[in-house]
Amino acid sequence: MRDYLLFYVNGIRHQISGTRGFQALADFLRGDLGLVGTKVVCAEGDCGSCTVLIGRVRNSVMCYEGINSCIQYLYQLDCAHVITVEGLNGGAEKIHPVQKAMVDAFGSQCGYCTPGFVMSLAAMLETQEVMTRSSVQEGLTGNLCRCTGYEQIIDAGLSLNKKNIPKPSKRFNEDAMLADFSEHVSQAVSCEYEEKWNGSSQKVQFYVPTTLAEALEFKQQNQQVTIIAGGTDISVQLNKEQIEPNCIMSLTHLTGLESFEINNKTITVGAKLSWSKLAEHCQLHLPQFAEIIEIFASRQIKNAATLAGNIANASPIADSLPFLYVIDAEIELSRSQPDGSLGKRWVRINQFYHGYKKTEMNADELITKIRWNLPETDDVLKLYKVSKRKDLDISTFTAGIWLKLKKGKIQNARLAYGGVGPVVLRLPETEEYLLDKPLLPEIFQQAGKIARNEISPISDVRSSSVYRSQLAENILLKFFHECCDSRNKKEAA
Ligand SMILES: Cc1cc2nc3c(=O)[nH]c(=O)nc-3n(C[C@H](O)[C@H](O)[C@H](O)COP(=O)(O)OP(=O)(O)OC[C@H]3O[C@@H](n4cnc5c(N)ncnc54)[C@H](O)[C@@H]3O)c2cc1C
Ligand code: FES
Ligand code: FES
Repeated sequence: MRDYLLFYVNGIRHQISGTRGFQALADFLRGDLGLVGTKVVCAEGDCGSCTVLIGRVRNSVMCYEGINSCIQYLYQLDCAHVITVEGLNGGAEKIHPVQKAMVDAFGSQCGYCTPGFVMSLAAMLETQEVMTRSSVQEGLTGNLCRCTGYEQIIDAGLSLNKKNIPKPSKRFNEDAMLADFSEHVSQAVSCEYEEKWNGSSQKVQFYVPTTLAEALEFKQQNQQVTIIAGGTDISVQLNKEQIEPNCIMSLTHLTGLESFEINNKTITVGAKLSWSKLAEHCQLHLPQFAEIIEIFASRQIKNAATLAGNIANASPIADSLPFLYVIDAEIELSRSQPDGSLGKRWVRINQFYHGYKKTEMNADELITKIRWNLPETDDVLKLYKVSKRKDLDISTFTAGIWLKLKKGKIQNARLAYGGVGPVVLRLPETEEYLLDKPLLPEIFQQAGKIARNEISPISDVRSSSVYRSQLAENILLKFFHECCDSRNKKEAA
């Protein structure tokens, strides 16, 4: 067991212990190291001005991704290498080719967002992506600029194709870091300190286990512990001082849970697999879900966040849930049993939520896997996310619609709506109505009216209850036109 975190910043080694480990990376970079090129604007993962590259060891090599450093805490960074804008090397020219491209394309005015854009483009160079208009737009979804206008920034990105630019990580001594990490990575980290305030004191602790058994044992002994997977929900709450946990467990080293398996049409996803990796797999196997992941958050968020975190966070507007409901997914919950052995149970997502933010998961359990069966060729599956902006926005309303067809009629139907109640809702009356019905517009029009009556949404900052009710009705006719009409015509031909 270690009592310090070990990581590198721009090739320089750092050992951090005690209270210093409880900082957001952006604060550590700016405050402790004076690396003020990394900017903080929103402190909640929305603007990208704090983007840095984070390299972690995967299959014995360092793999780098762009991450929002404002919502990545140091206890998530054990055995990682952080590259900031100061760590980009322009060689004899002093500024890096990405920075030069931004200058040449007039991609910066006040410049506050610029280091974030530079680092997001550097992340694309690191993964050797071809810069097309759409890839650059996608790569920069998580970066906001208030003054320049995006065309110039996109031009800067596109101009990088013509240059032979080495990967930003190439200038660092990777072998030395890998050797250092391999010496340390099998030791769990536990740091604690005494927080004194107003005459009283309390113990504050974080723990970074290296195996699932260690994680479950810790959960068993500390049932109020706050679990951090990607931290994209929790760290925002920390930054906004909505929560103040005194015991944290970071799952950063549980790489065994970063699995994706497809076996006999069943997909099983490990609880630590990032949304970015899940998207890559879904593009091949499940395009309907891949479409939703494409408009989920930004690349920086998807590089950190997990499906399990989305489920455990239990928000009624979590984007994964309508899909998981209609595909009838199951969640594996694991715990350490009194004799120390591993206990597991599978729970259907449709039985997982008991009310707003209340789940079936016990205080000593962790989500370890999520699994579902792929739709059959003849099944119709469509997912919807309605939000004020297409990209990087919280959903106002979500829907999942799945139909099993037989001889042109609906043999089975599952419908799930999000954003219309305290939890994502199935619509049993509408599902019942659709059974044995043909794929006709009047059927879906009527189904929409029944669906509207099955929900009673509230008004909030994102929309009114009337708007949500109207969406609940209209989405079924939209579904008919998008998924059934063409099918009918094809069959008639
Ligand atoms: C800028 C921004 C944009 C976002 N956009 C979207 C969006 O478009 N759609 C959307 O649905 N969400 C969005 N989110 C919310 C968030 O990114 C997702 O909910 C994400 O999937 C959370 O995953 P995580 O690994 O980061 O969770 P964390 O923050 O690490 O954890 C979230 C919750 O899950 C618990 N938890 C995590 N892993 C486990 C586990 N294995 N077992 C038990 N409990 C666990 C944690 O204790 C915590 O309560 C956004 C967030 C931000 C900051
Ligand atoms: S400061 Fe806005 S994303 Fe980090
Ligand atoms: S140049 Fe001012 S915010 Fe982008």
